[in-house]
Amino acid sequence: MRTYIISALAILMLAIGMFMLPNLAQHTPYIDSEQQGLDEQLTIHFSHVVAENTPKGRTALYFKELVEEKSGGQIHVELYPNGMLYNDENEMAALQRNDVQMIAPTYSKISNDVPEWSVLDLPFLFKDEAEIERVLHGAVGEELLETLEAKGMKGLGFWQNGFKQMIAKESPLLSPADFNDKQMRTMSSSILEMQAKLLGATPQDVSFDAVNTLLEQDGIDIQENTLSNIYSKSFYKKEPYITLSNHGILGYGVLMNKSFWDGLSAESKGIIAASMEQASAWNERMARKMNEDDYEKMVAYGTYFHALSAQEKARWQKTLQPLYDDFHTQSYHKILTDIEQQVH
Ligand code: SIN
Repeated sequence: MRTYIISALAILMLAIGMFMLPNLAQHTPYIDSEQQGLDEQLTIHFSHVVAENTPKGRTALYFKELVEEKSGGQIHVELYPNGMLYNDENEMAALQRNDVQMIAPTYSKISNDVPEWSVLDLPFLFKDEAEIERVLHGAVGEELLETLEAKGMKGLGFWQNGFKQMIAKESPLLSPADFNDKQMRTMSSSILEMQAKLLGATPQDVSFDAVNTLLEQDGIDIQENTLSNIYSKSFYKKEPYITLSNHGILGYGVLMNKSFWDGLSAESKGIIAASMEQASAWNERMARKMNEDDYEKMVAYGTYFHALSAQEKARWQKTLQPLYDDFHTQSYHKILTDIEQQVH
């Protein structure tokens, strides 16, 4: 009787497990290096950590529509927003295991696996969106995408969110002294951690989905983020002091599992690449507009805004200069030199 109950429980748990986990085996494409035509009914599971109404969420949705339309419904893109499947901490490993086929982590989060990407975390590297686009659409962008292959990932391209601003709970952040003794939430990135320390704050590496809880528990005082993320997550209600510092950029590498990509037919690859190109061009315009619109909504709400003056910016730059000095000593420093030759 006991053996019977244990066996029944084991079967039940197995059945629940199979129901809960995305069943990916049935979607794995037939691998044939000779194949040219469309793969038969293919599903791409695409996980990300933000809400649907954000630059990344909306671009992912547009990408899905384009792929499905261009493939006549043969390729299906299943979206998992809001970290409902995987969060910042485990999405990269899930991609490498092919548990999902696509993710779009921030540049900062990619830099943990591929340090070359940390160059994009350096403060005040880019003057405006045009510079970011010029660099990422050129040889530097190609080089960054290629670095992913050794880690089992295919880089499909870049999506932008925008410039990061500083945001605080109790008082405005105008000079480095204002960061003293503050707990600062950072994304997982060695440069961002060092940036917080140079400013005088204590870095707290917190996954995006946990930031609001930590704010409520008084575990963090300040953070940096884009206006659209600040708005969509209602951070401005708990951290009402926003410094328009434009000190760093937040964007995404759009990544696919490399074996999955290699197994696709030439036609499927063409459809995905064309959809990426179209979605990325749209993303750049839309993200800019979304940040502007969300700024207006927060102004209307009564949020405090301060635009960093030229003198204040110079003080921040001086404080953060060691990040550049340190980067130039790294084995992958050439990527910074390449960027510096193309910007302001
Ligand atoms: C994201 O936009 O994907 C999240 C950014 C963050 O972790 O602050």
